[in-house]
Amino acid sequence: MVELAPSILSADFARLAEQIGAAERGGGTVIHVDVMDGHFVPNITIGPPVVASLRKVTKLPLDCHLMIENPDEFIPALADAGADWISVHYEACRHLHRSLELIAQHGMRPAVVINPATPVEFLLDVLPMVHHVLVMSVNPGFGGQKFIPFTLNKIQRLCQLRDQLGLQYRVEVDGGVAEDTIASVVEAGADLLVAGNAVFGDGHPEENARRLLRTARAAAGEQSASPKKVQHLQPVNHRRPAATKKRNSLLRVKL
Ligand code: DX5
Ligand code: ZN
Repeated sequence: MVELAPSILSADFARLAEQIGAAERGGGTVIHVDVMDGHFVPNITIGPPVVASLRKVTKLPLDCHLMIENPDEFIPALADAGADWISVHYEACRHLHRSLELIAQHGMRPAVVINPATPVEFLLDVLPMVHHVLVMSVNPGFGGQKFIPFTLNKIQRLCQLRDQLGLQYRVEVDGGVAEDTIASVVEAGADLLVAGNAVFGDGHPEENARRLLRTARAAAGEQSASPKKVQHLQPVNHRRPAATKKRNSLLRVKL
């Protein structure tokens, strides 16, 4: 089932709780949180304290997209803040496998992100350990940019690989997803749809989320199911498990 993940980057930061509530009423089922450090990307946004505040106002999964150097340094704090899903950039991780393990060891769902210029094939060895792959359809750093069409090939390729390898990861798309592009990304195979400007940009998140989801579901050939029926497999434990302290422990990532 396709899901909409409203990105709060384009929300009114003075009214985040209210804006998230509206996006949720419109059918959003995941909240996408863009964490930027002014180094990996030329912009600064939010960090663990804001994530902790968001945790108090929504039960939806908090999908934290880390656009930062040295993401490992922030994973424990994000776990304590109540993040559910953490995605790290292939381009920012010197030891990607270690970063993904660290996320899972902290009880969160690990995911990997690729920029538009990064080939899907670079991810082959870590695909079995991720909850989702996030395909950037703009260069990361800012909301409201124009969708880059060739990224549709990456979505398709990831779906083919998933079938060929017998894996279960989901495919998320982020950047320029709006009324005029959302059907294409769904037809290419994405099922987690991040949208910032198209949801919050004009101050009507509920209506915008509803309209986007309607278009996405039509493109997916899905009936207009109630968003309440979406169930994320297994509740995430926000506490840091004891396994954190064990180095080199064997990991089994549950999808
Ligand atoms: C961009 C962020 C996106 C951003 C998308 O670097 O990762 O999540 O919010 O914004 P739109 O949907 O406006 O392109
Ligand atoms: Zn993002």
